[in-house]
Amino acid sequence: MTTDQAVVARLRAAGCVFAEDEARLLTEAAGSPAELDALVQRRVSGLPLEQVVGWAEFHGLRIFVDPGVFVPRRRSEFLVDTAVSLTHEPPRPVIVDLCCGTGALGLAVATALGGAEPGGIELHAADIDPAAVACARRNLEPAGGHVYLGDLFGPLPAALRGRVGVLICNAPYVPSPEVTFLPPEARDYEPRVALDGGPDGLAVLRRVAAAAPRWLAPGGSLLTETSDQQAPDMTAAITAAGLTARVHSSEEYGATVVTGSSDLSRTDPAFPPGAP
Ligand SMILES: C[S@@+](CC[C@H](N)C(=O)[O-])C[C@H]1O[C@@H](n2cnc3c(N)ncnc32)[C@H](O)[C@@H]1O
Repeated sequence: MTTDQAVVARLRAAGCVFAEDEARLLTEAAGSPAELDALVQRRVSGLPLEQVVGWAEFHGLRIFVDPGVFVPRRRSEFLVDTAVSLTHEPPRPVIVDLCCGTGALGLAVATALGGAEPGGIELHAADIDPAAVACARRNLEPAGGHVYLGDLFGPLPAALRGRVGVLICNAPYVPSPEVTFLPPEARDYEPRVALDGGPDGLAVLRRVAAAAPRWLAPGGSLLTETSDQQAPDMTAAITAAGLTARVHSSEEYGATVVTGSSDLSRTDPAFPPGAP
């Protein structure tokens, strides 16, 4: 049996469905036979492939994924496409990615809208988990993005208030009682703070919706990912905040995105652009 065949056999025995593809990626990532053995060992012990090789493909980009950081999911590419489709004016809006994890979603929107070269587009991101912030800095800072550590809007510069055109938030939305039923790759290797959305899954997202109008520019949009079942409650939270809610669904991605748009003609004296 060749080394390649042996790797495929070990992965298949561990239950990896795409054993050939994974073997190829692990072999490419390894610098030596000993390193390959170590990488395969980590993978068969259950670590997500992306955390083992250190990157994930997302919306055509290669995104760094550090151990212990949420792996961006393919279904979230639908949120990126929705953000791009909602953006008309200005063509290069200020983008904020809250609960950013690796920062994949913000970087993908920035890249799609204006190219993510330094100075190309204004991109800010934040997360409460220091490991996620360190990882997002690796992904976003080369593109000129800024990443902050803290709870939701708390660490953002006050000067962003009333200026955000695209406010992305893929927060944790699994209801607490359902976390235990997630696949072991998520349950064991992604932090609970990245998964657990409280009793009905919407605890973090409700807080985001309530505060979003203070940060959105006139005509700007909040974009959230939820389950299909959660969409009506998320719609209610966004409507209660004074935004125009809309549900977008994709069978192709198996994804639901609930957006909240601010009135284009809003001139709200309570939230003048840039006010602290
Ligand atoms: C489901 S993961 C999504 C990460 C990223 N948006 C993505 O789609 O790949 C949720 C992220 O929210 C962060 N998070 C959870 N509660 C937070 C809070 N109160 N403030 C900021 N970030 C939070 C977690 O650390 C985690 O990185």
